[in-house]
Amino acid sequence: TPIAILISGRGSNMRSLIAACAAPDFPARVALVLSNKDDAAGLDYARECGITADAIPHKAFGKDREAHERAVDARLREAGVEFICLAGYMRLLTPFLTDAWAERMINIHPSLLPLFPGTHTHERVLEAGVRIHGCTVHHVTAGMDEGPIIAQAAVPVFPDADTPDDLAARVLVQEHLLYPAALRKVLEKTENNTNKAASLLVC
Ligand code: GRF
Repeated sequence: TPIAILISGRGSNMRSLIAACAAPDFPARVALVLSNKDDAAGLDYARECGITADAIPHKAFGKDREAHERAVDARLREAGVEFICLAGYMRLLTPFLTDAWAERMINIHPSLLPLFPGTHTHERVLEAGVRIHGCTVHHVTAGMDEGPIIAQAAVPVFPDADTPDDLAARVLVQEHLLYPAALRKVLEKTENNTNKAASLLVC
């Protein structure tokens, strides 16, 4: 399946998806990396991998979100994309794009949804005092961080020792494992039961 990865910044999840797609038995190949910022660091990495990587800066469209999305949509179709992975794509999407790509667009979010939607999740996790945190890959719908959950990974929180950066790093390790596994699950419509027996106890 030809996929696009949409990014806004460093693109570490993009890298993990590119690496997974390099395996001959993986059910996706990266047809396009697209950013809403032309200085996103991930664009250079994608180009070094020989992947077409473009920017369509949202600033050029002012406040017209849908006009920006129409340009993004046109570029995706031109590249023959059939499935989209949002990976640190920091744009709120309108129903134009979420409807056009319904059930063909997924996102990774750094919390155990439905807990902690939105930004600054690691800070808010520490403030809330929860002991288990993690990441979620979900289908994208019009509501922010609200689509059906595909897969999750959990990490412990050490409230006396952790800084938000510590937590972000711990979760990111899991993000890089989870996103390719979740993408495979969606494209093959199979359950990935590798961790079926796993449990996490945090005291
Ligand atoms: C990740 O934590 C992801 O969950 C969130 O934004 C961050 C992007 O990081 N949506 P990167 O650009 O993939 O390194």
